[in-house]
Formats: sequence, structure tokens, C-alpha cells
Amino acid sequence: MAIIGIVAVAKNNAIGKGGKLPWHYSADLKFFKQTTTGNSIVMGMNTWRSIGRPLPNRLNIVLSRSAQIDQAENLIFLRSEKEALDLSRYLNCDMYVIGGSKTFAEFSDYIQKWIVTEVPLDVADADTFMPADFLHGFNRVEASDIDDGLRVSVYEKVS
Ligand SMILES: NC(=O)c1ccc[n+]([C@@H]2O[C@H](COP(=O)([O-])OP(=O)(O)OC[C@H]3O[C@@H](n4cnc5c(N)ncnc54)[C@H](OP(=O)(O)O)[C@@H]3O)[C@@H](O)[C@H]2O)c1
Repeated sequence: MAIIGIVAVAKNNAIGKGGKLPWHYSADLKFFKQTTTGNSIVMGMNTWRSIGRPLPNRLNIVLSRSAQIDQAENLIFLRSEKEALDLSRYLNCDMYVIGGSKTFAEFSDYIQKWIVTEVPLDVADADTFMPADFLHGFNRVEASDIDDGLRVSVYEKVS
């Protein structure tokens, strides 16, 4: 069981715009689906609103300090990153932290591995970014090309 961050990042560290992804790459969505299926995914309320439904074949964990959401079979609603981390100890699968940037920040001390899709764009009018140093303390251990001209890199925490 590992806590893994998964993110698609533009050249200027942008990840979001107007509550949505600033791009559409079907190869990256397919890669995300293949990687996270059968595991748990943790997301913040804004990302939950943007996705709009529990993603199938994964345990969807949504964090909010105040909001309420309707129940669904593969959906758990928690109040803090601590509650999610406590739960992760009882899960027989990896926990993927899927964003957005507020949620990544809350889990930054706990993420052991990052899977990063490098998006070959500068998104000038984005409103949500990764911190420039989010991979500080991590080493790239793997890189592969997927369709749509995208590269995915895997980073592991330096122990
Ligand atoms: N490129 C990518 O890979 C990627 C991935 C994911 C999202 N995104 C984009 O990022 C944007 C959304 O990111 P965001 O930073 O605005 O929001 P977010 O992280 O999705 O959601 C933030 C909200 O989640 C709740 N939350 C976060 N951490 C919490 C914690 N530790 N405990 C309790 N609640 C917590 C809070 O909700 P309450 O205010 O209700 O308490 C907080 O206001 C969108 O544009 C989305 O499309 C991009």
C-alpha cells in the first residue's frame, strides 16, 4: 500500500482553469483510468465538483470540511486528510491523491511517489498551479511516452 500523487502539469506548472482541466488529452485520461482502477482515489471538493460523479471501479474519497454530498456505493466522504490517511492503513490497495492543488498541498508530506504527465503547453490564463518545487526530494525513476505526444514520469521519494 502506497500513497501516490498523480497529476498532469503544464510547462508553467498549471493544472487547472475555471474549475476544470485546461486541456483534453484522451491518452492521459486513459492512462489515469488504467493506473487508478482497483485502487482508492482521494480528491478535494473542487475536483469532485469538476468530475461530477464517482469514477467506477475505484473507491472515491472526497474531502470537505463542510460540504455534504449524496451517497453512492463507491464513495466515501471525509473531513480531513488525517481521516483519509487513517483509512488508508486498512485498505488493501494504493491510495492515489488526484488533486487539486489544495489537496496535493495537504498530502505533500505523505506522498511517497508522484506520477506526472508532462503537458507540453504553457497555459497563460490558468488559475490553479502546482508549487514549482513539488518534486523536491524526489528522484525520477521511470519515464515513458504515451499517445498525444505526452510523457509520463514516475518519481520516488528519496529515503
Ligand atoms: N491537472 C490535474 O492533474 C488536475 C488534477 C485534479 C484537479 N485539477 C484541477 O484543479 C482545480 C481544483 O483544485 P483546487 O486546488 O481548487 O481544489 P481541490 O483541492 O480539488 O478542492 C479543495 C477543497 O477540498 C477540500 N479539502 C482539501 N483538502 C482538504 C483536507 N485536508 N481536509 C478537508 N477538506 C479538504 C476543501 O473543501 P471545502 O472548502 O468544502 O472544505 C477545499 O476547499 C480544478 O481546476 C481541477 O480541474 C487538475
